[in-house]
Amino acid sequence: MKFICPNIIFIVFLLSTATITSSQSESSETNIISRFQQFLKIKTDHPTPNYKQSSDFLISQAKSLSLQSQTIEHVPGKPLVLLKWTGTSPELPAIMLYSHTDVVPAEHDKWDHPPFDAHLDSEGRIYARGSQDMKCVGMQYLEAVRKLKQWGFQPKRTIYLAFAPDEEIGGHDGAEKFSLSRVFQDLNVGIVLDEGLASPDDYYRAFYAERSPWWLKIKAVGIPGHGAKLYDNSAMENLLKSIEIIRRYRASQFDLIKAGLKADGEVISINMAFLKAGTPSPTGFVMNLQPSEAEAGFDIRVPPTADTESLERRIAEEWAPTWRNMSFTLGQFKQKVSGCDASGKPVVTKTDSSNPWWALLENAVQEAGGKLGKPEIFPASTDARYFRNLGLPAIGFSPMANTPILLHDHNEYLHKDEYLKGIKIYESIIKAYASYDEHVNDERSKDEL
Ligand SMILES: *[C@@H]1O[C@H](CO)[C@@H](O)[C@H](O)[C@H]1NC(C)=O
Repeated sequence: MKFICPNIIFIVFLLSTATITSSQSESSETNIISRFQQFLKIKTDHPTPNYKQSSDFLISQAKSLSLQSQTIEHVPGKPLVLLKWTGTSPELPAIMLYSHTDVVPAEHDKWDHPPFDAHLDSEGRIYARGSQDMKCVGMQYLEAVRKLKQWGFQPKRTIYLAFAPDEEIGGHDGAEKFSLSRVFQDLNVGIVLDEGLASPDDYYRAFYAERSPWWLKIKAVGIPGHGAKLYDNSAMENLLKSIEIIRRYRASQFDLIKAGLKADGEVISINMAFLKAGTPSPTGFVMNLQPSEAEAGFDIRVPPTADTESLERRIAEEWAPTWRNMSFTLGQFKQKVSGCDASGKPVVTKTDSSNPWWALLENAVQEAGGKLGKPEIFPASTDARYFRNLGLPAIGFSPMANTPILLHDHNEYLHKDEYLKGIKIYESIIKAYASYDEHVNDERSKDEL
């Protein structure tokens, strides 16, 4: 009894102050987090994402916000949910708040909390696959819209929220087909916001371009021979020479990062993805035989600013030269190999005064009490490339400061306070973007890009 009495007093005290000060905001904060958790609990992990359930959830959110909604399926079973908040000047190019609903798979047994439970721990961390990549952003857009609507804000520009499928498997049936569709063209989009990355320090990160993946396979052929014989020009020897050269190049790029001279997105990264050689036997491989073929595969990421011609020359002359009896293929992204748009210009979104959306974002983040780091090149791929390829400005931004980068990792989490802060950041950005009513700059920035 001695212990119970003070507890009761404490609870009563809490309840009474809560009612006096901010019962509404208390409960709405709980609701905001609970809506985020609901979205996180939907199993949209590959290879069998439950898009039906996520679409239903998003459409119910749209209804509660009086947003128009539309479901677009370029490929059956792969819905893109498009929500619309019509502006008072609908002739102005629209704002697109873009996110993807799918997530990468999780190894459940390696997580401290099940990846689809959206467990909120006592520290305030919300654990879930997609908590950083990128269900957080999708829900933050919605919550920011909810707040703006509550305040009676009227957007001048029309605002679209797009929730797309399949980003994690390349976006071909999602963003790519959408970006090339008549529906998208008719939206008259002027600026796209897509995902960025968490940042371990105080500064939010924003991305204006991304590296293109080049998937390189090199193959060597040579005379087979006895495993005991030393001779030149075997397939293995020729392949290993290439691997040594590639490794030196990899180290030279990595050294630039280690020395702090370049950021992750600014170098050409190379990692070996596979090695394939040997003559199979019932117990493994034949050990006394030097094989006649040997192959290796590399994931290469090329920044849009890189000299791609010289890289292609390097591959042909040093990494897989025909005189060393080697050949190579560049994988499925070959057509995008240059990182350039149709007119041959690098696919980047300007971050200078020629792009008003950049300055608006910077100011809006600052006004909401956030700090923005130096604009960066995204080290991997996002759906933003499909919009940049059209010549549209697209900025990659996920407001998660003071957060370890855990996308695709075990125990991916986001702290609830960071999540809530991010909503305020988006309120500020959406307000600034939707109120911006210059015509001239739109056209100019589009042409320049
Ligand atoms: C390439 O293959 C040819 C034909 O097998 C062989 O004569 C030559 O020595 C090989 N050259 C190298 C560098 O492996």
